[in-house]
Amino acid sequence: MDYDRLSYIEAIEALAKEYGLTVPREAGNVESAEKVEDSKKLYVVLAAAAEFYQQQLRTHSNKEKAIGYLKSRGLSGQIAKQFGIGYAPSGWSNLQDHLKEHDKTLLVKAGLTIEKDNNKNYDRFRERIMFPIRDSRGRVVGFGGRIINPEDEPKYLNSPETPVFQKRLQLYGLYEVLQKRRAISKLLVVEGYMDVVALAQFGIHYAVATLGTATTPEHIQLLLRHTQHIVFCFDGDNAGRNAAWKALQVMLPFMDDNIRADFLFLPGEDDPDTLVRREGKTGFEQRLQEAPALSQYLLQHLSSAGNLHSLEGQAQFVSAAAPLIKQVPGLLLRYKLLEELAHQAKMNLAALSEMTGIALPKSEANKPLPRTQPKKQQPSLMQQVITLLLQHPELAQTVDNFSPWRDLDLPGSSIFCELLDLLEKNPNLTTGAMLEYWREQNEVFSHLQALAGREILLPETNLSAEFGAILQKLLQQAKQDELNNLQKKAEQNRLTETERQQYLTLLQKK
Ligand code: UTP
Ligand code: MN
Repeated sequence: MDYDRLSYIEAIEALAKEYGLTVPREAGNVESAEKVEDSKKLYVVLAAAAEFYQQQLRTHSNKEKAIGYLKSRGLSGQIAKQFGIGYAPSGWSNLQDHLKEHDKTLLVKAGLTIEKDNNKNYDRFRERIMFPIRDSRGRVVGFGGRIINPEDEPKYLNSPETPVFQKRLQLYGLYEVLQKRRAISKLLVVEGYMDVVALAQFGIHYAVATLGTATTPEHIQLLLRHTQHIVFCFDGDNAGRNAAWKALQVMLPFMDDNIRADFLFLPGEDDPDTLVRREGKTGFEQRLQEAPALSQYLLQHLSSAGNLHSLEGQAQFVSAAAPLIKQVPGLLLRYKLLEELAHQAKMNLAALSEMTGIALPKSEANKPLPRTQPKKQQPSLMQQVITLLLQHPELAQTVDNFSPWRDLDLPGSSIFCELLDLLEKNPNLTTGAMLEYWREQNEVFSHLQALAGREILLPETNLSAEFGAILQKLLQQAKQDELNNLQKKAEQNRLTETERQQYLTLLQKK
């Protein structure tokens, strides 16, 4: 998959072809095979469009204007080529005419043209500099287009979300970084297309940009697949500071002890493009080196919010910081953060640990540790049910009606429902085929993969009875949860009339 940049299914097909084998298709799996075919068509037409825009930059009668703009922004032909930059000329159907042998609806689906009422479509991108957005395998999945005439708007126009282009999953410039095929010691996350390209022009070949969206967990996962050190770069203005604090919150759950994340704030009106132009590679990298680490930014941001000289201020500081520190998975980093928090809030470390529920290593804790080792975390009932369904899909047929479970609102419910839908349509799916369905959703995929591989100690002979029993327990648990919630509300006198009725009914049933 990595070597030839193929998807899982494409890789299997390629191997099978090499060895003269036919890939057996599962009858139930037609839908996803169809989806793959659809995506393939989109990639083809998107690649053709990228090729067209690049060619227009070389040959169009108005090319001097576009080239002049790129030159005015300091870009060399070489960098423009590396990023596949092109030109969409003005006019409503240049691209359509060029791609006329392709299905019209396909162009619409790819986001390249826009449908009009009278069935006459028009080009989405007109009189713009075109930045192809490539996925990490190098396939063009969408475009960003920048105006050339300052009076036009919007300044940047992006492809809409399509089956192959989801902004929360894509990072502009990542493919180009990977193309360099050097060890990636860090990845820099910036906001704009031009920032990525200008940084590369000045020799900083490790920048990527989010596409007009906030940083998502999927972005972070993608970054961490290639590096252990991320630097987030933000404008010094208010918007930039807000975006940085959001990014910190998204980053926290990924902070293992081997991961480093820094936050670079640019001065005044600067963005990376203007800054690297003025200060060059050396100046920019100097700033990178001095960028505060996540821990420093976290504590500094929260401590500056209040008055640390008052006891109230100290208490507020602790209560804001503790829930964030709790999310850090790295034990060492979590401990160091707690220690620093204790210091800055002038608190005793053991007391802080006790009150925040953030555990300390043995020698630090004053109170004796519980004698028993903490139990390995038991899988939740929902996890057990999903695991069983993944390992034994036929179990789905042992229950006539799943609707009571579809209505539950528990962690994992939505995946459970999707799994049921999938099995309803394709009852003969294997474990592997079910997992494939989620492959593109990294987080869900690895979670399900782990569940599918989990050992569940149940007697194989009577699986369906066990499955049924766990399903029943799940319903009981949901009721108990609801009861607990209502009880809490009742104690605070916050029950509505309907809630009170429901509470009484549940109590009676118990
Ligand atoms: P900026 O407005 O900061 O522009 O948008 P920039 O990157 O400095 O662009 P130049 O230097 O003027 O060329 C940052 C990013 O926000 C998104 C784009 O992804 C852009 O790169 N954006 C901005 C849009 O999607 N639409 C817009 O109209 C503006
Ligand atoms: Mn800019």
